[in-house]
Amino acid sequence: MDEQLRVDHIKLCGRWSGMVALFRTVVGVSLVSGLLVMLLWSEQQVGVKTPAHIHFHAHARGIPEGGPNSQDAQDTAPDSSFQSLSVKFGAPRTVLSSHNITFLGNKTVEAGVTTSPGHHEATGQSSHVPAQASHAPDTTTSINGSKLVFTIDQSDPSPATPKIYVITPTYRRPEQVAELTRLAQTLMLVPNLHWLVVEDAVAPTRRVLSFLDTCSVPHTYLLGMASRRYKGANKPRGVSNRNAGLKWLKGHAKEGIIYFADDDNTYDYRIFQEIRETKQVSMFPVGLVTRLGVSSPIVSGGKIIGFYDGWIAGRKFPVDMAGFAVNVKFYLKKNAPLMPYNVGFEEDGFLKALKIKPEEIEPLADNCTKILVWHTRTVKSLPALKMPDSDKVTKTNLNYLKSQMVFQLPYGLS
Ligand code: UGA
Ligand code: MN
Repeated sequence: MDEQLRVDHIKLCGRWSGMVALFRTVVGVSLVSGLLVMLLWSEQQVGVKTPAHIHFHAHARGIPEGGPNSQDAQDTAPDSSFQSLSVKFGAPRTVLSSHNITFLGNKTVEAGVTTSPGHHEATGQSSHVPAQASHAPDTTTSINGSKLVFTIDQSDPSPATPKIYVITPTYRRPEQVAELTRLAQTLMLVPNLHWLVVEDAVAPTRRVLSFLDTCSVPHTYLLGMASRRYKGANKPRGVSNRNAGLKWLKGHAKEGIIYFADDDNTYDYRIFQEIRETKQVSMFPVGLVTRLGVSSPIVSGGKIIGFYDGWIAGRKFPVDMAGFAVNVKFYLKKNAPLMPYNVGFEEDGFLKALKIKPEEIEPLADNCTKILVWHTRTVKSLPALKMPDSDKVTKTNLNYLKSQMVFQLPYGLS
């Protein structure tokens, strides 16, 4: 994917592209006739200068090579010990497998959904407030004599605001919990949000469940494993997860907003304030997409008239996964389509299935003038080397750290 491609990076929509073509023809005809007139009336030769040729080079949309490395791919073996974990719940939580396997000790099973003791299903009433802030929205702490003030903006805790369902695909790798931590700590700033953490694995990764135990963002854990034929280089990533999330939503949500948030992107919490207003489908710029540095709808007069993206590729909606949100009612009305397993065309296929016209899409982030989300990528770390079985490991803190790390096989299976 390093190959440089010269691609058309601007797509104009329907009626507008027609008008642009007409405009081009008119300008072309006038130019040619103007030139002829000049040639006829002047003895001098006319040196016609070619207008500066503007073109852009862009990388094809970055799809990192390799996909999950083979080691990671294999190392999603059932984590037999997770069932015996003592489970403390930091937030409303459900665990559900898309394969109808349910997990967790002391479980109550209701219609295929495993709920935890003391669990209360997110009903639309449970507006999320970060743990500390619920009692002390403005906390003052002293560290070495210098004061730190920690304030969380709770200006919009009303349960009447539509709930935001954030669907996050994730999979086992050394960075997984670090990515989820970063994302969770952004989501903690957002009221009335429900996080669907969907893991591409045969069984839940123990570290992820432990992480969720102390995570104060209301969430549901789902399994959404990709089948083998969708694994490897140049295969779509995160589709099975997103579809498991969408199926869950179909059964659990009647209203609200859907947003696909990959675990490795960077989100300004204000993007969630923006998408809460989505009536049908909204769109906004995403930074760090392709060599163009941004992927964005082109807005004129408050309407989306086209798209600026480094990889148009004949797509009707050349946008990034993080660049749009969908209203749940609208989604259900359009028969709740799933995302296609079509690498590079997942967003386009999904949006096309919603049968929305570009001019009906709501531009957010001040008419797409602000970047509030970035398609960041994390440098991949190799799985850690084996820890020795000596007393220095088994009888010290290292033994505890071990359970929080991803090791090279065969250790990862322990
Ligand atoms: C880009 C797009 O932003 C994705 O939405 C799209 O699914 C993907 O390309 C694609 O076309 O395949 P990119 O940053 O290149 O994403 O991919 P990753 O970040 O590696 O994966 C996207 C999401 O899927 C992440 O949340 C990741 O945790 C998850 N994923 C990845 C899995 O669940 N399983 C995997 O094997 C790999
Ligand atoms: Mn990514």
